[in-house]
Amino acid sequence: MCGIVGYVGLPDQPNRSHFALDVILEGLRRLEYRGYDSAGVAVVDGDSIGFRKRAGKVAALDEVLAVQPLPDSLVGIGHTRWATHGGPTDANAHPHVVDGGKLAVVHNGIVENYSELRKTLVARGYEFASETDTEVAATLLADHFNTDAAGDLTKAMQLTCQQLEGAFTLLAIHASAPDRIVAARRNSPLVIGLGENENFLGSDVSGFIDHTKQAVEMGNDQIVTITATDYEIIDFSGNPAEGSPFTVTWDAAAAEKEGFDSFMDKEIHDQPAAVRDTLLGRLDDEGHLVLDELRIDESVLRQVDKIVIVACGTAAYAGHVARYAIEHWCRIPCEVELAHEFRYRDPIVNEKTLVVALSQSGETMDTVMAVQHAREQGAKVVAICNTNGSSIPRESDACIYTHAGPEIAVASTKAFLAQITAAYLLGLYLAQLRGNKFSDEIRQILEELAAMPEKIQEVIDNEEQVKALGTEMANASSVLFLGRHVGYPVALEGALKLKEIAYIHAEGFAAGELKHGPIALVEEGQPVFVIVPSPNGRNQLHSKVVSNIQEIRARGAITLVIAEEGDTAVDEHANHVIRVPKAPTLMQPLLATVPLQIFACALATAKGYDVDKPRNLAKSVTVE
Ligand code: M6R
Repeated sequence: MCGIVGYVGLPDQPNRSHFALDVILEGLRRLEYRGYDSAGVAVVDGDSIGFRKRAGKVAALDEVLAVQPLPDSLVGIGHTRWATHGGPTDANAHPHVVDGGKLAVVHNGIVENYSELRKTLVARGYEFASETDTEVAATLLADHFNTDAAGDLTKAMQLTCQQLEGAFTLLAIHASAPDRIVAARRNSPLVIGLGENENFLGSDVSGFIDHTKQAVEMGNDQIVTITATDYEIIDFSGNPAEGSPFTVTWDAAAAEKEGFDSFMDKEIHDQPAAVRDTLLGRLDDEGHLVLDELRIDESVLRQVDKIVIVACGTAAYAGHVARYAIEHWCRIPCEVELAHEFRYRDPIVNEKTLVVALSQSGETMDTVMAVQHAREQGAKVVAICNTNGSSIPRESDACIYTHAGPEIAVASTKAFLAQITAAYLLGLYLAQLRGNKFSDEIRQILEELAAMPEKIQEVIDNEEQVKALGTEMANASSVLFLGRHVGYPVALEGALKLKEIAYIHAEGFAAGELKHGPIALVEEGQPVFVIVPSPNGRNQLHSKVVSNIQEIRARGAITLVIAEEGDTAVDEHANHVIRVPKAPTLMQPLLATVPLQIFACALATAKGYDVDKPRNLAKSVTVE
């Protein structure tokens, strides 16, 4: 959702390669993946603010700037907006410029009490040009700047934030304070980037990754004032506060397509590395699993009597997969709950509950809220997250980072595999700590995990068969997915991928549920993917799923069967067999998911859709 970039550079630098506008437009393009419907920029221009904004893509903003350029300023802010209050129009786009053209504000999030604040401001004679909550926040900021903050933009921001309810990141520049940006965050992302004689702000580090890898994460309810050479953080009460510095471990090239047709395609191909990197450095000299990041007292972890995984979308399906492994290895009851349902259900959570929050972006507001709720109930929370400096790790007691690199495509792929891998590490660690598994058993499972990147690569190497099927089925109006045990969440994930990027009806079912209803959907020509468990696993499951294939084939389904090498029992019932390498039962999701991703990507591409930016969806869902 909304992307934010800010830049402050030092004047009189020889050999200057960029100005504020260059940095901001570049940053906004990198943040496009978050999803947005309008874009805008503002720069300090002498005694006033120069700004341009447009509904549509950054390219539309570029067109405006080509005709109506802005000056080479060294201070500016930019924004990509995902409409919440007020539709995606030029007027509602950010920045919002108030105070007689001297103050510009961009905003991510929702100011929940904006309507009361607006009434108060209207009563005092202020007028509004847009329907947005942002203009209300900007007007309030201007009001404080000109009254009780006496021209101090940081103080004005502090007073403003004390009045705002909801979740927000705000960036402000004022022509009367032309060397700085003042920014604030509450339950909404903001990261500081540190350069040489220049500093940056971004919704995430992609906003400034072309310029620096040195970043600082801010806490909640904090305000930062950046100049070209310094930054200062305070809390909403004005007390000095500290940020947490970190170094970004990937570079700008990792956020490029690298020759692939789409980010989604590239990210599918990144998966062997994503799993490998997530496993890196997890063993000590004695071969014990170590999770250095898990800064929760071992005695607390030993007492855990319930695990609740909270997540949304694909991350929740990764949680469903992990549940099978965690219960099997640790013998601790494990639930998976959609984060947005969790706190409204009044869940039974206490000091003995371990809540695991899965999130690629680390910014999914539903999950942030679930984490906060869990901690309020006394539970410890471990985040599994792909984004350093994001909100969910910050709000949690500990975080295991996945090392999938930046995921740009809206449809999550490599994050899913990396989340399963990291959740498995957590499960194994708990099993080790609580003595549910002997060291040699843990090592054996870790070896099985370590073998997965190569097997995932084998699946990818066979992509042509699946791509051809995707293209051939471009006109299908519905595709069904069946799986059992760990294959069930894989089926759900396969269906979600197709829904979100190909816009066709797709449903995942537990194969055992077929006869309880879904089989009625099967008619002549209905494509059905079936994820077949290994015949070497729980054998009765394999034969039951093979029977399911027979049942649906007999009713006219086109069966697309994902089965492991050597499983010939499926051959006679399958229209198409997609082979994956042999793997232990719990590892199979890391393989069986990949053809489903490739299929969805190929089918959506054949339909002519932009697979990276599906309609109506945003990469980071930062509102509830
Ligand atoms: O960033 P998160 O992992 O918290 O995101 C959760 C979901 O919004 C996300 O997985 C979504 O379902 C994807 N678009 C699925 O491809």
